[in-house]
Amino acid sequence: KQRIGVLTSGGDAPGMNAAIRAVVRTASRQGMECVGIRRGWHGLINSDFVRLDTASVSHTIDKGGTLLYTARSEEFLSPSGREKALATCKLLGLDGLVAIGGDGTFRGALALSRQAAEEHSPLQVVGIPATIDNDIGCTHYTIGFDTACNTAIACIDKLRDTMQSHERCSLVEVMGRHAGYLALYVGIAVGATAVLIPEHEVDFERDIADKIRRARLSGSTHYMIVVAEGAGSAMDYANRIRQEIGIDPRVTVLGHIQRGGTPSARDREAASRMGYSAVMAMAQNRGNCIIAIQNGQIVDLDMEEALQMTKSFQMDRYQILEALSIPQA
Ligand code: F6P
Repeated sequence: KQRIGVLTSGGDAPGMNAAIRAVVRTASRQGMECVGIRRGWHGLINSDFVRLDTASVSHTIDKGGTLLYTARSEEFLSPSGREKALATCKLLGLDGLVAIGGDGTFRGALALSRQAAEEHSPLQVVGIPATIDNDIGCTHYTIGFDTACNTAIACIDKLRDTMQSHERCSLVEVMGRHAGYLALYVGIAVGATAVLIPEHEVDFERDIADKIRRARLSGSTHYMIVVAEGAGSAMDYANRIRQEIGIDPRVTVLGHIQRGGTPSARDREAASRMGYSAVMAMAQNRGNCIIAIQNGQIVDLDMEEALQMTKSFQMDRYQILEALSIPQA
């Protein structure tokens, strides 16, 4: 009987449990056994595992976080760490491993699959993209992004109530690491006055001061500015607004709240399709790949090639945001 492992690594994302569930249930249907590796690569190094069957993933599709726990492992970056991880794979008799996570997770997956090939190990590694940042080049969508957008939007809608009452300027810092996807989608959805993203170099006069002035001229008395963490600190921008424009803004850093909560329909659906496809790719001997969504379709891409792919940032969305955000005076 074939046996596969599944793990989640790096920052968690809503929908990871739905992906684990899909992997476990598809494996079972394919006559494979499934082992859950806990705490990501760290757990693989330390033989931290749990048997999973179809019942162990019941009532998990609606839960945020990851039932397998997650971690960021320094040790796995070294060949000796990966050697220990491969020893665990051998001990468990794993034919395949599904790694659910983001960029760092996939770099680890690629290094492990290369090392396994060098040692003539039969281990096949498959990656499933899950991160609220949506910053993986080979896929248009990563599990968790939609839920994180919805969470941020719900928070900002609440903020707007009080900002409107006090006629204040609000700066909201959202996550996204080095990418502005989360900030841009959220900014469009809340009708932000301005969005600051790393993909568009921030010019204080053009991107902040002028927008506030124009919003003010058109009758607005409160301004919502969404700042991607990768574009700088919301606190620094607020200080500059205070000094140069003479208004007294308030700063909210949404932080890790964006990573929690029950996954949205989109994330459950994407995670279920991706988890299913990961196991089917292995069953059909198409391992060492990344499961991606391109133009709505699931594809499996050679891991080596997938990790070199880049996607162009959708600057048209930035233009749409600008066109819609400030009413004409
Ligand atoms: O990659 C997901 C993410 O939430 C990023 O948006 C953020 O920069 C980072 O992880 C935060 O990491 P940590 O959980 O280690 O604070």
